[in-house]
This record gives sequence, C-alpha cells and structure tokens, in this order.
Amino acid sequence: MMWYRPDGFTLGGNGRAHLKVDGLAAGYGPVQVLRGLRFEARPGLTVILGPNGAGKTTLLRALAGLIPRGGEVLLDGEELPEKTHEIVRAGMALVAEGRQLFPQMTVSENLELGGWLAPKAERERRLVQVLQDFPKLRERATQLAGTMSGGEQQMVAVARAMMSAPRLLMLDEPSLGLAPRMVDELLAMARRIADAGTTVLMVEQNVKKALAVADRGYVLERGALVASGPARLLSRSTVVREAYLGAQAQDTTSAADAARRGRTQASPTAAAAATIVAPS
Ligand SMILES: Nc1ncnc2c1ncn2[C@@H]1O[C@H](COP(=O)(O)OP(=O)(O)OP(=O)(O)O)[C@@H](O)[C@H]1O
Ligand SMILES: [Mg+2]
Repeated sequence: MMWYRPDGFTLGGNGRAHLKVDGLAAGYGPVQVLRGLRFEARPGLTVILGPNGAGKTTLLRALAGLIPRGGEVLLDGEELPEKTHEIVRAGMALVAEGRQLFPQMTVSENLELGGWLAPKAERERRLVQVLQDFPKLRERATQLAGTMSGGEQQMVAVARAMMSAPRLLMLDEPSLGLAPRMVDELLAMARRIADAGTTVLMVEQNVKKALAVADRGYVLERGALVASGPARLLSRSTVVREAYLGAQAQDTTSAADAARRGRTQASPTAAAAATIVAPS
C-alpha cells in the first residue's frame, strides 16, 4: 500500500498559488548568505538544487519567517507577512530539513500540532482528511513518532504541514537519508500534492529524480542563483549535467564555474529555455 492516496489529495490549495520573490536577502547575524535572489514558484512543482552550504535551507527558512529577510516576497500579489504564524495563516507551510517531529508524541498528536492555528472543529476536520490522504498513517496514529523509520517520519512531517491546509508547501530535502524506493515514493508524493492544487517549492540534492518530477528548477550556488528553467531542459543543460548529473568525479566543476567558462547547453532548445544567470 502506498503512503498516500494514489487518486489525489483531499486537502489542498486551489492550484493557483504563485510566489514571486525579488531581491531576497537573508543570513545569520553579520553573515549574509543570500543576496538579491529573484525567483518564483508558480502553480506546480519548483525545485531548488545546489551543493551543500549553498543557502537552500536558508532560503526556505527566510520564506517561512524563521530568520529575518530582506527584499520583496509576494504570494498571489500580496506582500508576505514576516512572522511565522502569519505566514502559515497566509497559506505557506514548511517541512523543515530533518523533519523536526516531536519524537515522544504520537503520530496523531504530531499531526494535530500542524493545525494549531485552526479552531478545534476545523482541526478535527483536517485530521480526518489528512488521515484519508495518508492512509498508512491512520494505522500508525498511536505510534510514537520517534519510533518510526526515516521514511515514515518524513511522511508524518509532510502530513503535519498539510494540516495547515497550505496553498504553498515548502519541502527541505524530503528524500534525505532515505532508501531509493522511499525516495521515489516521497518525490512522487510531492508531485501528487502539486497536482492536487498545492504549489510546491522543494529543495533537493537528488538532482536527477527531483528534476524528473518538477516542472521548473533553479540552481543555487554560494547564495546566488546560477541557472533556471523548465525541469526537462535544465536536466539537459551542460551546467546541470556536468556539475550535478553523473559528473560526480568532477566535483570541483561547479555550475557557476561552468557558466563562467561560457559553456552552453546541450541543445539550442535547452539553451533558449534554461537560462544561465551569469554569476556576479
Ligand atoms: N544558524 C546558522 N548560523 C550561522 N551560519 C549558518 C547557520 N545556518 C547555516 N549557516 C551558514 O549558511 C550557509 C548556508 O547554509 P544552508 O544550511 O542554507 O545551506 P544548504 O544549501 O541548505 O546546505 P545543505 O545542502 O548542506 O543542507 C552555510 O555557509 C552555513 O554554514
Ligand atoms: Mg539544507
């Protein structure tokens, strides 16, 4: 049995949530990690790729209000609030890196926490829906979250985020540390969530598999976006192929370096659609 309903999710947005970010800046104290980022998450699934330390988590944390941010962030044309609970209320939820469940609480207690902003009756209604969407979690409702496997915990973390009935769901490396079959299931689930109407913005290091389920993608390196485009074309671009797909032996060849050396994409079509943003 799959973890989630194969015939679609009942909890979901209206399929139109559109995030537009311009001049995003964020960091930690005096350390600025991101500066001047311009990107968007349109309805569907957008993936952000990039090496360790590039600033991917920082980006999601800034959008979730967990660290201060600068720049303009518009959700469906409306300025995104700054405080986390207001951002959740505005319709954005984050599944953080490492899942961040409460290990001593049961699955259903963890899920209920995801609906903390909703009145009790609404929270109960969503819990019923989320257990329909994730039937395997219903069997595990009374299990302590900390006793579940990594993949199971990731499902709980995603289901908990869905309890806030988000219009836009942010996922930070959902496949991290999971066995290949579970990676496939998690990424397929992200796709289904997007298809059911919740815009998905996902950070992933599993480049090939992520691009296979995504509509569009960006490559973030050292706090700057160095490439972007439709996922299918991005996966064919020289920048992504050399630095992230199959060219592991050339780890020193970053996408930025490749772009700097003026290499072009695999095909004229890819070159036209997968934009290489020249690093400054
Ligand atoms: N709490 C923090 N305080 C200070 N610096 C931090 C903090 N968290 C992250 N950083 C720094 O910010 C930079 C970006 O980190 P971030 O976690 O966003 O990268 P990432 O792309 O998510 O990497 P990974 O793929 O390893 O998860 C790194 O140089 C990191 O050391
Ligand atoms: Mg990270």
